[in-house]
Amino acid sequence: MPVPDFGAAILRRLDPETAHGLAIQALKTIPLPAPRADDPILATRIAGLNLSNPIGLAAGFDKNGEALGGLARLGFGFVECGSVTPLPQAGNPKPRLFRLSQDRAIINRMGFNNTGLEAFADHLSARPSGAVIGANLGANKDTDDRAADYVTGLRRLAGLSDYFAINISSPNTPGLRALQGREALDDLLGRIAEARTTAAPVFLKIAPDLTFAEIAMIVEAALVHRIDALIVSNTTLDRPDSLTSPDRAEAGGLSGAPLRGRALAALRDAAEAAEGRLPLIGVGGIASGQDAWERLRAGASAIQIYSALIYDGPGLVGRIKRDLAARLRAEGFSSVAEAVSAGPLTER
Ligand code: FNR
Repeated sequence: MPVPDFGAAILRRLDPETAHGLAIQALKTIPLPAPRADDPILATRIAGLNLSNPIGLAAGFDKNGEALGGLARLGFGFVECGSVTPLPQAGNPKPRLFRLSQDRAIINRMGFNNTGLEAFADHLSARPSGAVIGANLGANKDTDDRAADYVTGLRRLAGLSDYFAINISSPNTPGLRALQGREALDDLLGRIAEARTTAAPVFLKIAPDLTFAEIAMIVEAALVHRIDALIVSNTTLDRPDSLTSPDRAEAGGLSGAPLRGRALAALRDAAEAAEGRLPLIGVGGIASGQDAWERLRAGASAIQIYSALIYDGPGLVGRIKRDLAARLRAEGFSSVAEAVSAGPLTER
């Protein structure tokens, strides 16, 4: 049965944040059929997690982990909820979410609006069985010790989440991206390594606005501190000249189609620096099977999507999966992992 698209076209006529709230409500309340079993060729593993397919939902769609039952039924191989901060916070004043329709992009400056760690833990306790769920951790805007906030999240959610993502790359919390600097990163990752009590892997999510040298440094720090994978990438502060939508100059992080090239380049840099020592997850501007294939062939073991779902609806997940399965067979690969380790699609 095809996945309903929740009237994606209708939702796009509403104010973006109202539309988002309605989509979450629909996912919470409308009973969806179980998704069709995935084509076995799409099964893969990342950092010890078994995924029935490599397509994940990126963080920020379900910040409170409140619609996991519905989201698990849309056919994703994994669903990342959050970012959650220890204390509830309202985020930035509205409007803070902008659709750049002509560019198939989004600008957001939400600022980690969420209902806090306790509500998040309650939701995760009632999580659907069988789905792979990750918790993306953030820091409160007014915290004195950002690293402590991530440790608090990790400790509180131990045993409730299949993996964790340490988000140090949101552009909407002043100073957060400074955690990507070596000294701050060593302190943060050292404290996270100490706080780990379960086998759940810990991923680190980075910005696309980094040089090769910065990415290579982060890869080395991640390896030293036993981070299990890198998520590349978050939204960009860049505003490409190609943007034509009226809201293109709004402050915040840009995602969707105009992020694709930059996120792919950052992924390639990470793959070059990691030399196979650290699994990667590719995110940013993925909107087709071709885009997903390009990330896998650039070295990503799995991918995530967000903005393209706003424009295409959740039916996109099934289309990408069918396309990937067909490409794997056409190219003579028997698994996703084989394609990932086969090396670059084309010379750079
Ligand atoms: C995001 N993203 C995000 N990432 C994160 O780690 N924590 C978060 O809370 C959020 N919040 C968020 C809100 C909104 C409205 C958007 C559009 C995005 C970033 C997201 O997970 C992803 O990295 C980027 O959007 C790039 O992927 P797409 O959207 O180009 O597929």
